Amino acid sequence: MIGIDRDDEALAAASRRLQRFGEAVVIVRENFADITRVLRAQGLQQVDGILFDLGASSMQFEDAARGFSFAIAGPLDMRMDRRQSRTAAGLVNHLPEEELAGIIWRYGEERWSRRIARAIMRARPLATTTELAEVVAGAIPRRSWPRGIHPATRTFQALRIAVNDELLNLEKAIPDAAEALREAGRLCAITFHSLEDRTIKHTFLRLSRGCTCPPGTSASMSSGKRLLRILTKKPVTASPAEIARNPRARSAKLRAAERISEVEA
Ligand SMILES: C[S@@+](CC[C@H](N)C(=O)[O-])C[C@H]1O[C@@H](n2cnc3c(N)ncnc32)[C@H](O)[C@@H]1O
Repeated sequence: MIGIDRDDEALAAASRRLQRFGEAVVIVRENFADITRVLRAQGLQQVDGILFDLGASSMQFEDAARGFSFAIAGPLDMRMDRRQSRTAAGLVNHLPEEELAGIIWRYGEERWSRRIARAIMRARPLATTTELAEVVAGAIPRRSWPRGIHPATRTFQALRIAVNDELLNLEKAIPDAAEALREAGRLCAITFHSLEDRTIKHTFLRLSRGCTCPPGTSASMSSGKRLLRILTKKPVTASPAEIARNPRARSAKLRAAERISEVEA
């Protein structure tokens, strides 16, 4: 089993937990968008199954110092891989207003994105998560605050996706992962928000139809080859009992697909 994460703390925790499996488990600090290279470096051409457990982890959200949470004061960081130079502070304090609004609109699906970007421009430089959360909340008319979630939830999601290039990495990784599967091998993805789920759904569909896609995306997609059979027409979600045990499972969606044979392709 090969475990990939780009967060050093996640890797340290996983190494401790999986120690008893010895050499059967290999843990690497990599971006899963580089899955082809990672597998090759392990001397592997094909694998039996791949699971993407996407998004940010509870460990990342709960550590104030990582800057993912609007609920606890911390630096505006949000990097999964702390070797990279782009941080949330960099985006919030240096991007032009239009670009900031675009990110909040696209990756947060936030209808108040322009007002939020304008408020950020007026308030910056911003240093902490809670400062940013206050500015965002203040930019949205109170009568329009979303029900059940903090008014800064969407903006924080947007910045996190942008800091970590989450959707682009996913769009690259899924076709390459499909390509790395042996016949009848399975590709599963657990997502935690609609943009991620839509990316999985559409990429699975493209790879199951084998249509020709815009060039430059990835070798397998542009070759037009059929690679997958979708196993989940609708995503699998957690039962009420599981959600009661683990409330974070409420937004989880699992989609699965199987690698088809050369003959079927
Ligand atoms: C929902 S957590 C899952 C963690 C792990 N499966 C567990 O149960 O503890 C998602 C993890 O994916 C990692 N991650 C997100 N995008 C990544 C990428 N492009 N490459 C490598 N790891 C990534 C994050 O750092 C985070 O630790």
